[in-house]
Amino acid sequence: MPVPFIDLKRFEPDFLSRWAEECAHLTKTTQFVGGPVVGKLEEKLRALSGAVAVVGCANGTDALQLALRAVGVGEGDLVLVPDATFWATFEAVVNVGARPITIDIDPVDLQMDFDLFVSAVETHKPKAAILVHLYGWGSAKLAAFREFCKKKNVFLIEDGAQAHGVTFNGDSIYKDALLSTVSFYPAKVLGSCGDAGAVYTSSTELADVVRKLGNHGRTSHYGHGLIGWNSRLAGFDAGYLNLSIEYMDARLESRRKVAARYRDEFRKLGVKFVAPPAAYQENGYLSVALIDPDKRAGVEAVLKENGIGFGNVYPGAMSKQPGAARFLHAKFGGDNADTLSRSVLNLPLFAYMTDAEVDEVIRVFAKAIGR
Ligand SMILES: Cc1ncc(COP(=O)(O)O)c(C=O)c1O
Repeated sequence: MPVPFIDLKRFEPDFLSRWAEECAHLTKTTQFVGGPVVGKLEEKLRALSGAVAVVGCANGTDALQLALRAVGVGEGDLVLVPDATFWATFEAVVNVGARPITIDIDPVDLQMDFDLFVSAVETHKPKAAILVHLYGWGSAKLAAFREFCKKKNVFLIEDGAQAHGVTFNGDSIYKDALLSTVSFYPAKVLGSCGDAGAVYTSSTELADVVRKLGNHGRTSHYGHGLIGWNSRLAGFDAGYLNLSIEYMDARLESRRKVAARYRDEFRKLGVKFVAPPAAYQENGYLSVALIDPDKRAGVEAVLKENGIGFGNVYPGAMSKQPGAARFLHAKFGGDNADTLSRSVLNLPLFAYMTDAEVDEVIRVFAKAIGR
């Protein structure tokens, strides 16, 4: 039985009819860009995250750029980023005119290494840093990152694109962030029907700047106080997300169940399957198995032959991307991110995967590793 890496079509029985009604409503009320539907979404996200304010925008990459610009990061400023992340994190820094410094990751939680980060701050005195909550959890040292950055006057932006529904010490991971950004790309845990994103913040002043920057720096309809751009959230995305939020708990429960099952089975198979640090409840965004890099291609060939989808998220460290060389100010630390990129193997994990599908993935994977 083939099992896809991800299937975005597993809708709840009443989802499509409700979505059709919402589409008709949004069309009849011409809520195409902005409108009450966007305000309603921002309020729902604020309540869910515990943030002080939420501002919707066009995508997660823009959210990062809006957050960087809001704290004044620009030409020539230094920004620390983890060496393992999606390229958008690195790209956003360059796009606002700043220079990225990559920091290696902690080999246990796979997030930016706190001790290296501290040394890099002392060495390079950056203006800001982006801590990425990767794979569906975050750093074991999240509280220390926040506290240290506050003490050192480093603006800490948290890239929470992959962290919808993640809890840290029982609260939303977004709750105490100065600025956290999210993506609603359809494959995310809270995904839209197109590209969309948002900035969550604990500061109403920063929220106000973000909102202006993402709407042409507007202070009135034809008054422009800042150089911004158009990064407004579309009404259809907001409508789709408002509806999806109603099903979020069930989707999260389903993903977490699959992640827990994998973790159990992989332990029995003697394969390293990364677990979130104790303070976290993961969201089941990705399953992360670590395979001997010399054996990974062989394992993948068997998965492919048997129709099992898989991914390598991500197959290369940021500092080694061909596009990085011109802009990388420094690379700090060793090569844990590179080792991760050569060993990471992600198996199918999405909401409403059936038990039979999970059984099949485990059966084929066991065969692939010769068990
Ligand atoms: C960690 C991370 N940062 C940023 C982004 C960028 O988001 P978007 O694709 O919505 O621009 C993504 C999404 O793929 C991501 O996973």
